[in-house]
Amino acid sequence: MNRVLVTGAKGCIGAWTLRALLDDGHEVVALDLPGNMHRLDLILGSDLAKVTLVEGDILDAPGLIELVKRHEITHIVHLAALQVPAAKANPTLGAQVNVVGTVNVFEAALAAGIKHLAYASSIAAYSPELTFEPRTLYGVWKLANEGTARVYHLDHGISSIALRPYVVYGLGRDFGLTSAPTFAMLAAAAGQPYHIPFGGVMLYHSGRDIGRLFARAALQSDFDRAAVYNPPGTLAGTAAVVAAIRAAEPEAAITYDETALPFPTELETDELAEAIGPVEMTSLEAGVAETIAAFRAALADGRISPPEPK
Ligand SMILES: NC(=O)c1ccc[n+]([C@@H]2O[C@H](COP(=O)([O-])OP(=O)(O)OC[C@H]3O[C@@H](n4cnc5c(N)ncnc54)[C@H](O)[C@@H]3O)[C@@H](O)[C@H]2O)c1
Repeated sequence: MNRVLVTGAKGCIGAWTLRALLDDGHEVVALDLPGNMHRLDLILGSDLAKVTLVEGDILDAPGLIELVKRHEITHIVHLAALQVPAAKANPTLGAQVNVVGTVNVFEAALAAGIKHLAYASSIAAYSPELTFEPRTLYGVWKLANEGTARVYHLDHGISSIALRPYVVYGLGRDFGLTSAPTFAMLAAAAGQPYHIPFGGVMLYHSGRDIGRLFARAALQSDFDRAAVYNPPGTLAGTAAVVAAIRAAEPEAAITYDETALPFPTELETDELAEAIGPVEMTSLEAGVAETIAAFRAALADGRISPPEPK
C-alpha cells in the first residue's frame, strides 16, 4: 500500500496532486498550514473525506520527521512554498520556507528511510535567456533546492524528480504571478470583463495534468538520480489563451498587456517521458473549456465568487 505525503497540499497543485493520487487508489496524507480549505473543497469535493489532513509547518523539522514516521509514509510530493509575490514581500520567511523547508523534507525522508521523492522547482529557476541566472529570489531558491536534491542523492542515495512548471491554470489557481489567465477564465464564466497584465509566449499546463505528473514522479521508487524536468504543456501567447477563452465563452471580454514576463519562451520538455514514461497533456483549448465549465458550475452553486474587477 502506498501512503503518499503531499506538502503544501492545500495549494492549487497540491489539491490536483491529491486528486490524481486518490483517483489511482493511493492513501494520501496532506500537510499544510491551518485554514485555507477552499481549493480542496473545489477540487476534491466529497473525496476530501478520504484525505488524512495534517495541519503543520514544514519549518517544524522534528514535527515533520515524526509525521512521516507516524503515518508510515512511503512516498513524498513536496510542494509547500511561498510563491513569487509572497516571497518578495517577505524574503526572510520566503528563504526559510522555500530553502530550509526543502532541506527539512529531505531530512524527514532520510530519517524514515524513504529513498525517493518528487518536488516542485519552477520555470523561474531560468532567466529569459535560458541560463540559470534567475531574476527573482524565488527562482534563486528554487535553483538552490535543485542543488540540495543533487547533494542528498550524492550523500545519502535519495533520488528525486523535480518538475519546473511554467503557467499552471485551472480550478484552484487563485494566487501567484501567473494566476491572471485563470482569473480571466473565472471572469468569463461570471460574465465579467478582465485584464491580464502580461503578454508574451509561455508554456501552459492544466492543474489536473500537473497534479498527475507530480503523482507519477513521486511513485518512481526505482529512480536512481536527482533529476529535474520541464513538464510539457501548450506553448501559447496570451492572445491564444484569450482565443481559447472566447471559444468556450463567446461573450468573454478579456484584454491583455503586451509586456512579457521574465521567463524563457523555448525550452526542452521531451526528457520527462524518459523518466516516467509517455506523457499526454491536455490541449489548451480543452483545458480552458473544462476550467470555464467547472467555474460556471461552482459559481452557480455558490462554491466560488466572481473575481474582483480588473
Ligand atoms: N502554480 C504555478 O504556476 C507554479 C509554477 C512553478 C512552480 N510552482 C511551484 O509548485 C508548488 C505548488 O504551487 P501552487 O501553485 O500549488 O502554490 P500555492 O501557493 O497554491 O500552494 C502552496 C501551499 O504551500 C503552503 N505552505 C506555505 N508555507 C508552508 C509551510 N511553512 N508549511 C506548510 N505548508 C506551507 C501554502 O499554505 C499553500 O497551500 C510550489 O512549490 C510552487 O513554487 C507553481
